[in-house]
Amino acid sequence: MEKQKVLVTGGAGFIGGNFVQFMLNKYPNYEIYNLDLLTYAGDLTKHRELENKSNYHFVKADISDRKTIMSLFEKEKFDYVIHFAAESHVDRSITNPEIFVLTNVLGTQVLLDAAKQHNIIKFVHVSTDEVYGELDFDPTLFFTEETPLQPNSPYSASKASSDLLVRAYYETYKLPVNITRCSNNYGPYHFPEKLIPLTISRVVNDQRVPVYGDGKNIRDWLHVIDHCAAIDLVLHKGKNGEVYNIGGHNEKTNLEVVKTIIETLGKPENLIEFVEDRLGHDKRYAIDPTKLEQLGWKPTYNFETGMAQTIQWYLDNKEWWEQIISGEYQRYFDKQYRI
Ligand code: NAD
Ligand code: TYD
Repeated sequence: MEKQKVLVTGGAGFIGGNFVQFMLNKYPNYEIYNLDLLTYAGDLTKHRELENKSNYHFVKADISDRKTIMSLFEKEKFDYVIHFAAESHVDRSITNPEIFVLTNVLGTQVLLDAAKQHNIIKFVHVSTDEVYGELDFDPTLFFTEETPLQPNSPYSASKASSDLLVRAYYETYKLPVNITRCSNNYGPYHFPEKLIPLTISRVVNDQRVPVYGDGKNIRDWLHVIDHCAAIDLVLHKGKNGEVYNIGGHNEKTNLEVVKTIIETLGKPENLIEFVEDRLGHDKRYAIDPTKLEQLGWKPTYNFETGMAQTIQWYLDNKEWWEQIISGEYQRYFDKQYRI
C-alpha cells in the first residue's frame, strides 16, 4: 500500500510537536513531514528520538514563503495537511501585532493556495476558541460552532481571519477542509511563556508567579494528547467544510490553576504576585464539545489527572525547559513583567 503523506506545519511547537509524535506512534505507515520555521517557539530537541525514523522528515521553511511552499507541495504531493504553525501568544500580539497577521493570515493563505493546486484529501486548520471572543461568568453559557466570531486580541483576530479564509476556500473552491477550535491546551513541551508551564517552572525555582488582574478570569483546560486525538478524528472522519469545537469541560480560574500547582509542589502561596491586567483580557472561555463527541471523541484526562501528569513531566524534564528559559526567553520575561 502506498504510504500516506502528511504535512504537519508547526511541528516543532507545543501542540504540533505532540501531534507529530502521536501520529508516528499511531500510524507507522504514514510519512510525516514536519514543516517549521523554528521561531523562538520552535524546538527540535523534543524530536531527537524521531530523527532516525525513515518516515519522519523535517523541513525548515516559512509558511508565508510562497515559492518554497509551492515547490514543496509540487515535489511531495501531500495527502493530508494539518496546519498548526502560528504566532500563538496573546501577550506578544499586544506588543507586536504585525507578525501575527503575516504568519497567521498570509501564511495560512499560502498553504491554502498550495493545497488547492494539488489533490489533497484533507486540510485541517487548527484554530482556537478565542475567535469567539469572551463569555460572561454565567456557567450555563458555552461557545458552540454557531457562536459568532468576535475576537478581542490581535492574536485571536488573526486566527479568526485565517478561519474565514479557510471557510472561503471550501465555499469557493470546495477544498476539503475542517476547522477545529480548541480551548487552552496544557501538557508536555508547553512553552514556558504560557500560564501553566510558566507557573511550574517558576514555582519549582521558588520564584514569584505573575497573576494578571484579580486572577478570576476563567479558561477551559484541555490536555494536549486529548487535543491530538480529536484532530486525528477530524482528519479521518470530519465532514468537509465543518467546524469542530474541542474542549474538555475543565473550567478553572487562573488563581485556581496557580494554586493547584503551588500546592502540588508543596510551596507557599505567597509566591503569587498580582500584576497589572492584560489589555483587553477576555473574562471567560468555555467550550460545548457536543458536536465532536457525536463524531466519537472523548477526553481521557480531567483537570486533576492531566495536571498531575503534566507537573510530573516538568519535574522529570527540567533539562528541556531550563535550556528554553535561558537566553531570549529570559529577556522577554524581564521586559514583560519586571517582577
Ligand atoms: P507554539 O507557539 O508552541 O508553536 C508554533 C510553531 O509554529 C513553532 O514551532 C514555530 O516555530 C512555528 N512557526 C511560527 N511561525 C512560523 C512560520 N511563519 N512558518 C513556519 N512555522 C512557523 O503554538 P501551539 O501552542 O503549539 O499552537 C499551535 C496551534 O494551535 C496554533 O495555530 C494556535 O493558534 C492553536 N491553538 C493553541 C492553543 C493553546 O492552548 N496553545 C489553543 C487553541 C489553539
Ligand atoms: P495564556 O497561557 O497566555 O493563554 P491565553 O491567553 O491564550 O488564554 O494565559 C492563560 C490565562 O492566564 C489568561 O487569562 C492570562 C493569564 N496569565 C496570567 O495571569 N499570568 C501570566 O503570566 C500569563 C502568561 C497568563
